[in-house]
Amino acid sequence: MERVLSGMRPTGKLHIGHLYGALANYVKLQDKYDSFFFIADLHSLTTKYENTEDIKQNRVEVMLDWLASGIDPEKTTLFIQSRVPEHAYLHLLLSMIVPIPWVERNTTVKDMIRDLKLKENASYGLLGYPILMTSDIILYKADFVPVGKDQVHHLEISREIVRRFNRFYGELFPEPQPLLTEFPSIPGLDGKKMSKSLNNDIKIADSEEDTRKKVMRAITDPQKIRKNDPGHPEVCTVFKLHKIFSRDEIPDIEKNCRSGALGCVACKKHLAENINKALRPIREKRKSLEGKKKEIEEIFEEGSKKARKVASQTLKEAMEHMRID
Ligand code: TRP
Repeated sequence: MERVLSGMRPTGKLHIGHLYGALANYVKLQDKYDSFFFIADLHSLTTKYENTEDIKQNRVEVMLDWLASGIDPEKTTLFIQSRVPEHAYLHLLLSMIVPIPWVERNTTVKDMIRDLKLKENASYGLLGYPILMTSDIILYKADFVPVGKDQVHHLEISREIVRRFNRFYGELFPEPQPLLTEFPSIPGLDGKKMSKSLNNDIKIADSEEDTRKKVMRAITDPQKIRKNDPGHPEVCTVFKLHKIFSRDEIPDIEKNCRSGALGCVACKKHLAENINKALRPIREKRKSLEGKKKEIEEIFEEGSKKARKVASQTLKEAMEHMRID
């Protein structure tokens, strides 16, 4: 069976962009592949090394969101990166063979430095982001890595590192391929990409009331000022969200918006209802899991032990290939 691996940084409660992008994909993949999904807490340190107080809590939030969304620990190995110290060891070994320009050219890291305004606070560890990611992947000899478009450059570097390792020390690692999700990207309430840092997201864990309030704030067609003005669905964020959550009703919504029969307030109320309906089973499951934190930590503890078995075997092979073991 081919192997799939992916990770997510513990940034806090996940939003519906994660749910319909990454998580829905994980849930599908776990039936077809031998899958490993992990919480990349060491990667969080690449940018959040100063304020680490909420990393552990965020880890729990991600665990809850994953399990509530249908990721099944019976089918998948779920683990925490920092519980498998082999990731750090292989990262060190790989860092010895990676030429500086490969990491300095990395556009994703450059974007992070710009977006987070890190400037001279950008750390040595951040420069090594794709090297740590490479060790995450190749410790499990993963064939496929489901990721978003923004991660593709990291994976190109991963493949280059793998080729270099295999050339110097003999074939050991497969070249990991990205698996781009076909899911639509979910716009945030302001029309930009949905993101926690832009404060334009709807969380999986939000209450129905919060969801309604957030949807009421969403940006619509700026030319539709009064309720009965004709609208332009093609420029409206609420309409884009309807396309995902109200699929069967799209022709009616579009027609009634254009004619002016449907006002934005009613349109948003309807969207909020449909989002809440879609999320209800997941939210209920999440609520019930919130009372079982011990069991959940246990799942990830067990998974980390399982992951560590695989990782330590691979690390041994890597050290043998490099002739230091
Ligand atoms: N960089 C990924 C992200 O921010 C998270 C990640 C860390 C990851 N290690 C990985 C993803 C290994 C896939 C494989 O989304």
